Amino acid sequence: MRPSIDQASLMAWFAGHQRNLPWRATKDPWAILLSEILLQQTQVSRGIVFWQRLYSRYPTVEEMASSTEEEVLHLWQGAGYYSRARRLFQLSKRVCESSEHGGFDGVLPTDSKTLQTLPGIGPYTAAAVASIAHGEAVACVDGNIRRVMARQTANENPSPNLVQEWADQSLWKADAGNWNQALMELGATLCTPNRPNCATCPVQSSCLGMAEPTRYPAPQVRTKKRVDLMCILRVDAHGLPELVQRGSTGILAGMWGPVMGETLDVDSLTYLGEVHHVLSHRDMHIRVWKGKVETGVDPKSVPLSSLDVKILRLGGVD
Ligand code: ADE
Repeated sequence: MRPSIDQASLMAWFAGHQRNLPWRATKDPWAILLSEILLQQTQVSRGIVFWQRLYSRYPTVEEMASSTEEEVLHLWQGAGYYSRARRLFQLSKRVCESSEHGGFDGVLPTDSKTLQTLPGIGPYTAAAVASIAHGEAVACVDGNIRRVMARQTANENPSPNLVQEWADQSLWKADAGNWNQALMELGATLCTPNRPNCATCPVQSSCLGMAEPTRYPAPQVRTKKRVDLMCILRVDAHGLPELVQRGSTGILAGMWGPVMGETLDVDSLTYLGEVHHVLSHRDMHIRVWKGKVETGVDPKSVPLSSLDVKILRLGGVD
């Protein structure tokens, strides 16, 4: 089927209007992989800061593999969704294993199929990396591309299969990396959720939804699960807090923080107040009590989530 979207116009617009992002100045697959993992759940302006931090400390996959999970988490501190960091570390280890043991001898796989066998790499990241770094003719789909598709085709609620079909059929195969990025860029900068700039859109001629762009796609109702936890912030005579490493599962796995749990014995402790923290799928309410500990830990020496930083601040620890 012939693509309905005006490919040449979108490619010309991207060539002239793309944002100057640091990972666009390289073809290094590792640099591109880092950027795509960060951008999954972090906005571009913050993504740049974290990308620079990670790429300068780990210019190669081997450098990360010879680091520690704790150091990777520490560098990731503030970017959120820490399971990404843990999986990225596992990925680096796997890539640097010998091929006799199921690894890749330190070289990232180049094709999207093999990339998907690595920890933390789903269809989106695999397609983005394989197309941008290696020119593989594979279409990627993210939230921006879904919105562009929904408006181009005036579909309020396109299914994942339909979006993928549209993306496959629209793909500019001769330069799939720039094509995928052009579609994402359009969604991120012009075809935005609430105030799309249709007047300057390079693909308005093929857009069936332009009369009422914000009708497409219909907002997805996402119910956030309320989570109630208790926390005891114990502090030593120097003002240093007790910090423990969280278990190996859950959203804060591997990170450090004050003792937290569903029910804790807080008899005779002073209640400090409640910390509220919103994640994409969770609405967290943490009630915090203050206690004493013999010897605390320097909070700068361990990876802390933003939630834990908020709890420490409530107790006057920074
Ligand atoms: N969002 C995620 N990856 C992107 C990329 N490579 N270009 C534009 N937006 C993106």
